[in-house]
Amino acid sequence: MATLAKKSLGKRNVPIGDVEFWEKTSFGIRGNTKQATFNISVYESSTIRIQVTQEEEFSPNPYAVIAEANPHAFELEESSYCLLLKTEKIHLYIQLQPFSLRFETPEGKIINEDDSAFAVSWLGTEVSTYKQVQENEKFVGLGEKTGNLNRAGKAYVNWNTDYFAYGVGDDPLYMSIPFFIGLHHDLAYGIFFDNSHKTTFNFGASNNRFIYFSADDGDLDYYFMHDHGVGQVIEAYTRLTGTMEMPPIWSLGFQQCRYSYYPESEVLTLAETFRNKNMPADVIYLDIHHMEKYKVFTFDKEKFPDPKTMIRRLKEKGFKVVVIMDPGIKTEDGYVPYEDGKDKDLFVTYPDGAIYEAQVWPGWCAFPDFTKPAVREWWAEKMIFYKDAGVDGYWTDMNEPASWGQFTPNLIDFYYEGEQTSHRKARNVYGMQMARSAMEGCVQQEPEKRPFVLTRSGFSGIQRYAAAWTGDNISSEEHMLAGIRLVNSLGLSGVAFSGYDVGGFAGESTKSLFARWISIAAFSPLFRAHSMINSNDAEPWAFGEEVEEISRNYMKLRYRLLPTIYSAFYKSSKNGQPLAKSLVVDYPFDNIIFDSAFQNQYLFCDAFLIAPVESYKEITKVYLPKGDWYYLYNSKKYHGNQVIYQDCPTSYLPVYVKSGSVIALQSDIQFTGDTHDGILRLHLFWGEETSTYTHYEDDGASLAYKDGQYLKRRINWIGSENALIFEASTGEFRSQYDEIRLYIHGKDALKISLDGKLLDSEKEDIAFLGRLTDFDPLPEHAHPFHSSKEICCVSIPHSSKAFTIQLD
Ligand code: NOJ
Repeated sequence: MATLAKKSLGKRNVPIGDVEFWEKTSFGIRGNTKQATFNISVYESSTIRIQVTQEEEFSPNPYAVIAEANPHAFELEESSYCLLLKTEKIHLYIQLQPFSLRFETPEGKIINEDDSAFAVSWLGTEVSTYKQVQENEKFVGLGEKTGNLNRAGKAYVNWNTDYFAYGVGDDPLYMSIPFFIGLHHDLAYGIFFDNSHKTTFNFGASNNRFIYFSADDGDLDYYFMHDHGVGQVIEAYTRLTGTMEMPPIWSLGFQQCRYSYYPESEVLTLAETFRNKNMPADVIYLDIHHMEKYKVFTFDKEKFPDPKTMIRRLKEKGFKVVVIMDPGIKTEDGYVPYEDGKDKDLFVTYPDGAIYEAQVWPGWCAFPDFTKPAVREWWAEKMIFYKDAGVDGYWTDMNEPASWGQFTPNLIDFYYEGEQTSHRKARNVYGMQMARSAMEGCVQQEPEKRPFVLTRSGFSGIQRYAAAWTGDNISSEEHMLAGIRLVNSLGLSGVAFSGYDVGGFAGESTKSLFARWISIAAFSPLFRAHSMINSNDAEPWAFGEEVEEISRNYMKLRYRLLPTIYSAFYKSSKNGQPLAKSLVVDYPFDNIIFDSAFQNQYLFCDAFLIAPVESYKEITKVYLPKGDWYYLYNSKKYHGNQVIYQDCPTSYLPVYVKSGSVIALQSDIQFTGDTHDGILRLHLFWGEETSTYTHYEDDGASLAYKDGQYLKRRINWIGSENALIFEASTGEFRSQYDEIRLYIHGKDALKISLDGKLLDSEKEDIAFLGRLTDFDPLPEHAHPFHSSKEICCVSIPHSSKAFTIQLD
């Protein structure tokens, strides 16, 4: 290949220019212009990688992508001015003079196209690619980003930032996921820009010519994905960057946190209160006050003199304990982790070798270099300290990394898997590597158990190691709704397991706000309440009797729904699609879903449509997309494709079930490990549609499911034939349920038969929420109680064999 021209000094934009040389490789093509070398490789028919560098060699990010390019998965056609690289799903036209790319469908529709003048360009070390905007093009995703569902007209920066009490339009926050999905003309595509430097995505802010994305330095290295739908694009992205592993089932329960619960008597009382109040919960967090002087791998001897016994007592009540781990190691002589780190060269240093120090909770701290494998191993080993105390999960906080002053000098050195690089390149992956180390620590310490790590910071691929939460939100109505969009956006970006601090971290929640927030969060993948030091109590009983009852109602509903939620986690762990799924996934070309009144709506576990609404509203507009929908609480049926007005007192969050869906419930339990009555309650919401609910069970705790100890069964509803087909279950796990009770909503007077044999049916009134106590003699409309009357039901003995239920 020709040698590259001297790089420009970067005073003006320098485009990539004409291709001087190219050749076919087994994965695609490579070549060069005067300015740069490029490499185009096919990963699969829906994914093509574009790499361009001005360096002698490409410098791929070692952290995000776990997939590999596929040899010979393309065809190449050439002419003197253009190459056409074809896969089954994408036709990529590579114009040679000057270099510029156009992605088309095999039918010849343009999906995405470079601005032909600027295509790939440099300004100094900053590399960008400029793309033409297609008519009515919309952009969604980009992970933990505030703002509207449609990101058109806005620009965003990826630079992991500790941002206490961020505003609902502020950027950047804690986590960087440089992946977005573009939509136009019934086409969906995804672009993942795999560069860990500070990156910028401009979706048409301050210009009407192009959209672009840039990195402060490094390669232009992006993956272009196209498939027939948004869900399939997300699947392609998670085939590249991984999906979450099945989490322990306890992490799907309610999690209570506070900065901080102490001393141990307060923690024990907290656990007791949940049980006394009959409010199901699984997890209690220990925030930074559990430590001695905020030093990681210590317990405060006064506040927590006997952590082992405390944790054992919590376990006896069915609670799990999650501890916070901050990366900063106090630079205190004699403190073993510090001494260790110095001796073993584990800390981030200045280029002259001196240890870099900054202040965090413990005072001056050194920072383990988590981009070094030996450091990750060392940290993982250290976690024996918590494991011995009986801790079940880990919360990696402040891992942007955060420090007082909030401005880390860029010159500090990181190992970066041997590459040796500066903070500019390493910052955005630091938190992810800390979460990885915590996850590896769990596995190392207790190999038979599923790890649970909750992280604040991260980068693309973080879903392989941890769940995420959206940091220091504020107790406000707009923050509640912003959190929902953040979680939905994380879901569009591969992070399926995420949540927000219920009630708001900073500030004080009002009664109604807390009630609404906890109701919505019952339909969030991560269900966790948290609040700030020096704030009022914020447990679900701290806001008076009515809020307590509303909270209990939704907490109980969450636990009853666990069979559905756990099955949805299983599905998501396989296909990478979100659990809290913005409507854009299933209805991408229905423009109404982008309307500010409806953009917060989402599907949960595929079957539920959640319409979040401010707590002060008594009535709200809800958009029901195409299909028919049932109001969850009374089975009233609505046609889709319309806006309806819905009463929404704080006791009833607007939730609908998609017609034709099957959802699975169990009896009330106090915690995920509690015993239920052994009946799996399947609710069919009758419709002409066809649907599949894949029911999944395993022990919820170990890795035995990987060796066949699971139970999986597809239950197919064929609306046109009125048939519910139970396929035989697979796997060796014995179901926890010995009876199935089937409820049919939306269809009266039924004869129900099992493989041709008529079953005895009954009628039951179904209330998904309990009746609130009449504290005040209020009129009925202020205190409604909803139930579905006379729902037809039958009992079916559990059998792992295939059978068909026929409704006539
Ligand atoms: C910042 C975290 O975002 C917050 O959740 C936590 O309570 C505090 N650090 C104290 O550890």
